[in-house]
Amino acid sequence: MRETMEKLQDQYTSALRNSIVGMGESALQQAYELGRRALADGLGVLDMAAMYHKALAAGLPRDSTPEETALMLEAGASFFAESLSPFEMTHRGFRDSNIALRHLNQTLEQEIKRIAHALHDEAAQLLASVYLALDEVAGNLPPAREHLLKVKGLLDLIEGQLRHLSHELRPTILDDWGLLPALKFLAEGVTARTGLFIKVEGESAPSLSPLLATTLYRIVQEALTNVTRHAKATQVKVTIQHELQTLRCSIKDNGVGFDVSSLSARTGERGLGLIGIRERLNSLGGSPSLVSTPGHGTELVITIPYTNSQEA
Ligand SMILES: Nc1ncnc2c1ncn2[C@@H]1O[C@H](COP(=O)(O)OP(=O)(O)OP(=O)(O)O)[C@@H](O)[C@H]1O
Ligand SMILES: [Mg+2]
Repeated sequence: MRETMEKLQDQYTSALRNSIVGMGESALQQAYELGRRALADGLGVLDMAAMYHKALAAGLPRDSTPEETALMLEAGASFFAESLSPFEMTHRGFRDSNIALRHLNQTLEQEIKRIAHALHDEAAQLLASVYLALDEVAGNLPPAREHLLKVKGLLDLIEGQLRHLSHELRPTILDDWGLLPALKFLAEGVTARTGLFIKVEGESAPSLSPLLATTLYRIVQEALTNVTRHAKATQVKVTIQHELQTLRCSIKDNGVGFDVSSLSARTGERGLGLIGIRERLNSLGGSPSLVSTPGHGTELVITIPYTNSQEA
């Protein structure tokens, strides 16, 4: 990396020198190409600024008049701007993909809503016809009545689970009561299905935008799914805190933990959950941080910039 930077610095210095002695268009093309390579090598805009300053210090002839120096600085500034344009383009691309991601998440939410309603309404109707059919059988076969009552009891359980699942998928509780009650509801469902002890703590923020609330809900949902699938944990603590301009959410389990650094080395079989969490947060200017040590549990901490006037 150091060697690449030194090589790039030498090339940058010599190209900038060409530019300030008036090589115009071809020097600008070189500036663009150098910027593109710097970006590909993982350099940032601050590295570019440092490189420009070094190149300028080395490239400006000492014996020039103030007028000549002013002209050379102008040419140097255009060179610098051109070498930054690949960074600008990447930044714009990032902004565009964030907008696309927001739209995609909105479409996804619509689709989840549709599935939740289908699960809720259609499954309930089907179950209602099964109840009627059972009543008919019970009427025609009195000795089977006791068995059929047991079947009805099981169907009641299924109906309850389906209702809970459909509400977890698209929690109207989120719109009506806010994030914290919705997370408690989600936790109850997970506990009922898995036996995991989940504590949800924190303060509700009444002014949380629907987009922010839904994003956090989906993230906690994925984090809890990860705990039940991978952690072999017995306890999880979910905490929501509002700091001055930041919303902080932590999901901490007491499970087996894992080597976080090995995640990026995984190819092919990589899961999508953590990537999805990062992408959802990117589009809102937030970020996740994952701390885990094998044998010592895992904590996922989410921070999102937050203002009271946040719009959906
Ligand atoms: N709470 C946790 N405890 C232990 N390991 C975890 C935990 N959360 C994540 N992991 C590890 O991180 C990996 C990546 O998680 P991620 O959610 O990205 O993918 P996944 O759960 O394997 O698949 P997907 O979410 O796409 O169904 C998991 O495979 C698991 O090894
Ligand atoms: Mg997952």
